Amino acid sequence: MKLSRGILDFREIFNSLSTALDFTYSGLSGHHKRVAYMAVSLAKKIGLPGETIKNLYISSIIHDIGAISMREKEMLTELEVKDPYTHSELGSSMVGKFSFLRPVCEIIKCHHHAWKGENPCGRKGDEIPLESRIINAVDRLDVLIRPGACILEQSAGILKQLKEISGLIIDPGIFAELADLAERESFWLDLGSEFLPAVLNGLLADIDTFAGEDILMDISLLFSRVIDHKSRFTHKHSRLVAAVAGMLARLSGFSGADRVKMVVAGLLHDLGKLSVPEEIIEKPGKLTPGEFRVMKRHTYFTHRILEGISGFSEINRWASFHHERLDGSGYPFRLAEDSIPTGSRIMAVSDVFSALAEDRPYRKGLPRESILEILETMSGSALDPEVVGLMTENFGLFEKLAKRDDPLAEE
Ligand SMILES: [Fe+2]
Ligand SMILES: [Fe+2]
Ligand SMILES: [Fe+2]
Repeated sequence: MKLSRGILDFREIFNSLSTALDFTYSGLSGHHKRVAYMAVSLAKKIGLPGETIKNLYISSIIHDIGAISMREKEMLTELEVKDPYTHSELGSSMVGKFSFLRPVCEIIKCHHHAWKGENPCGRKGDEIPLESRIINAVDRLDVLIRPGACILEQSAGILKQLKEISGLIIDPGIFAELADLAERESFWLDLGSEFLPAVLNGLLADIDTFAGEDILMDISLLFSRVIDHKSRFTHKHSRLVAAVAGMLARLSGFSGADRVKMVVAGLLHDLGKLSVPEEIIEKPGKLTPGEFRVMKRHTYFTHRILEGISGFSEINRWASFHHERLDGSGYPFRLAEDSIPTGSRIMAVSDVFSALAEDRPYRKGLPRESILEILETMSGSALDPEVVGLMTENFGLFEKLAKRDDPLAEE
């Protein structure tokens, strides 16, 4: 994709996509942005170099990326987490696959390491990466905040509790810096404020946050892994949809740059599924009307989250209109035919094909004849007949993609 410098900014991409990591049973928690804000504020106070601040920002804005189920996220809200290592290890191995994110791999792995030691890798005290020690301290501060209550009233009590674990779980030197920073009312007010994303962006203003095509692709692939990790039945769904959509875009004559956008849109199309509890995603039967209503919110969330990224308007439409239907019966916008762009029509066909070809909790992947029959029934009323035609004429290509372990890998 031809991206001129400054069009895509990884602060915007991470700030927006991290929202999807913050869905809990009780709604959006905002945890990752607050932890990133505190970590970066602390790093600036200590006077850490720009490159360290950049890596600290990236690691803190996604530090719990390995905690995928809502049950697991709930466990992390205790001050002393029983098993802090499973999500840290998984998160670290997920980010370690991408060259842009390799520097943050170790930081994420150690973000719950206790200062006093007894950590799986044997490190203790200042042998633990400084960035991990910073995240650990501010992460513990964040779990102590009671939402809804006045934050300035809570500040003294929170610092008292942190002091009790200073020297044991958190680095006493970092605790001292944090306590100093926390003297300012503005520190606490920012934490409870709607202005927080803007404040966080401002703190990073002097860092080069330009994202080229390779960075965009790495981040999109990383998030597709998180989305697909929700269920073993969808372990490669986003990558398959991305590969199928990329192929349909090629057959439809899209330019190279637009094909890259289509792949990114495919990788992120189900981002909002992170709002759906795994009990619903994994249910081995038909969803109740109530459960289906929860499921239907996912494309709404994909849309609102991607809206926060400049330069993403087309990617957003292609991704989040994938359940819109030509006859206006789709969701969540109930768009009419003339408001559904070709890219979104391609995504809808790619999603239907992939869902039919994959195993589901209640059935195995369907054979060629059944998929073709269903596509034919939906063609014209729900799905674009030209896109369905392209798929059926070249069906072998798509079957091959569905059989691959990694549908996006080069042949
Ligand atoms: Fe964590
Ligand atoms: Fe956390
Ligand atoms: Fe979907």
